[in-house]
Amino acid sequence: MEKTNEAYAVSERLIIRSFNMQDIQAFYQYRANPEVARFQSWENYTLQDAETFVSKQMAQSPDQAGTWFQYAIALSANNQLIGDCAIHTLGAEPRNVELGFTLAPEYQGMGYMHEALCALLDYVFGSLNKHKVIAFADVRNAKSIRVLERLGMRREGHLLENYMSKGQWIDEYQYAVLRSEWMDKP
Ligand SMILES: CC(C)(COP(=O)(O)OP(=O)(O)OC[C@H]1O[C@@H](n2cnc3c(N)ncnc32)[C@H](O)[C@@H]1OP(=O)(O)O)[C@@H](O)C(=O)NCCC(=O)NCCS
Repeated sequence: MEKTNEAYAVSERLIIRSFNMQDIQAFYQYRANPEVARFQSWENYTLQDAETFVSKQMAQSPDQAGTWFQYAIALSANNQLIGDCAIHTLGAEPRNVELGFTLAPEYQGMGYMHEALCALLDYVFGSLNKHKVIAFADVRNAKSIRVLERLGMRREGHLLENYMSKGQWIDEYQYAVLRSEWMDKP
């Protein structure tokens, strides 16, 4: 299989695969949407930003300590990019990873992210053999909090003014799930 189309995980409706050049337009469309960017680090996202980002991702490999790797979420029916999920392999403890995720607005509210992250966590704890997955959510980001809690992730902390975003210090919740908890879930 070509590296750029490599599938890392699959679910009923989705493929979790590498990014490729055909994804740039769809990726740009949702990243440039202010509602999608509201609780994220970026703003005023340009097509050039999307091209640079996708090119860099295509040259990277997953699970390198101290780096993020972005996985494309595509519909299995037609390989259309609908969002992405990312893993940050922590530099200080590479057996633990941090999760990030984004879905294009037109594909929200249909359970796609839940489905994608279930497949991703199976891959992270199965194929990558990780010990713990953590995620941070802006305390105002109700949709993201619902995604994390629907996965069964535990709120482990309320971190005050933990993150500088768009000129403002942001409070975040830290969520986590252990390998033993994920593997033992009913
Ligand atoms: C966070 C984000 C991915 C959540 O998207 P989402 O569509 O709400 O999440 P899912 O795809 O898992 O869909 C869940 C919703 O679909 C509904 N749903 C409909 N059909 C469903 C199905 N077949 N299976 C499961 N859920 C279904 C669920 O009830 C749920 O709605 P609710 O939260 O109102 O109860 C999205 O808001 C986003 O991309 N935001 C911008 C980026 C961002 O802030 N990322 C978080 C950074 S940590």
